[in-house]
Amino acid sequence: MKTTTQTQVTHYEVQKKRRASLIEEWRSYRKTILHRADVVMHDDPARRMRRGVFAGRDGDRPTMNLDASIHEIGAHTTSTIHRHSWDAIMFVESGSGWTEIDGQRIEWRPWDTLHLPAWAWHRHGNVGERPAVFHTWSVQPMLEQFGVALLEEGGDTPVDQLPPRPKQPTPLVGSHPYARRTQRLASQWEGAESARLVTRFDDVRGLVTKRGARSLFLVDKSIGYHTAGLSAVMHELAPGLYQSRHRHGGEAWLYVVSGTGYSVIDEVRHDWSEGDLIAVDHWEWHQHFNASNERTARLIRVHNFDALYDMMRVLVDPLSLFEELPVLDAPDLSGIAWPDHLAGRPEA
Ligand SMILES: [Fe+2]
Ligand SMILES: [Fe+2]
Repeated sequence: MKTTTQTQVTHYEVQKKRRASLIEEWRSYRKTILHRADVVMHDDPARRMRRGVFAGRDGDRPTMNLDASIHEIGAHTTSTIHRHSWDAIMFVESGSGWTEIDGQRIEWRPWDTLHLPAWAWHRHGNVGERPAVFHTWSVQPMLEQFGVALLEEGGDTPVDQLPPRPKQPTPLVGSHPYARRTQRLASQWEGAESARLVTRFDDVRGLVTKRGARSLFLVDKSIGYHTAGLSAVMHELAPGLYQSRHRHGGEAWLYVVSGTGYSVIDEVRHDWSEGDLIAVDHWEWHQHFNASNERTARLIRVHNFDALYDMMRVLVDPLSLFEELPVLDAPDLSGIAWPDHLAGRPEA
């Protein structure tokens, strides 16, 4: 067997070429505004649902970190059950139904948000007379990149006959390296199975922030969720106004729940309207504007900063991964008469 290689190019040249082509390839996938109308819905007979991909490796715009999909479940339909190693946020656009997470049934209606934890068995049901539609945002691409994206199908097996979530071992007593590892992993996992699963839109209210919007957490560690880093916040832009400009090292996505507007990203204007997904890539200066002088615009910002961005910050330090203007250019919102919190929510 031959054990030596002879090449005419150096290690330096090979790596340089490989690195350049990787970035070129991934730049070609970038797209700032993903229109709802361009998302093709496909029948998904394995799950008895329909699915379309805004962005992610299951569609035509591969991603490294987050993915975004639309799911539709027909009237009087119950999906099959499955689970996976990644977690996901689920936001209901229209219709009403339920999602069962490790046997716990959660009823939902428009603008409710759920968290589907890693390794939790889940299935969806629609008891209504018309299809129900929801969005999901997950970290599936990130786990695939790390080689740990696992998917398990349960078909129609009752959940009590399926294996429970994998568990960390009971932490060992002592201070030797393996004991310290078991203690650390156990404490990271603690509370995962009893964590919060739903934010009902009826039960939350927004607060006006310094950044120039009325905002509320939908899914975040700070309100009792146990995510791998995913977070979702709803920002409501006041009529005719905007949020302050900034840029950061991790990408952030904004799903337009209602309203019309535009985002200025590295000095280029991108128009958006209800149903669009705005993909703000990393290190682009961005600012979001409400184009209507009468209505507010509601956007759901999704990112994975707690896991990936914090890791990147540490890895690339002393490069900074967040920048805003020395004085925030946010508008004065003190005189704004905000509409009722529930205004504009579709009927279930
Ligand atoms: Fe799933
Ligand atoms: Fe941002």
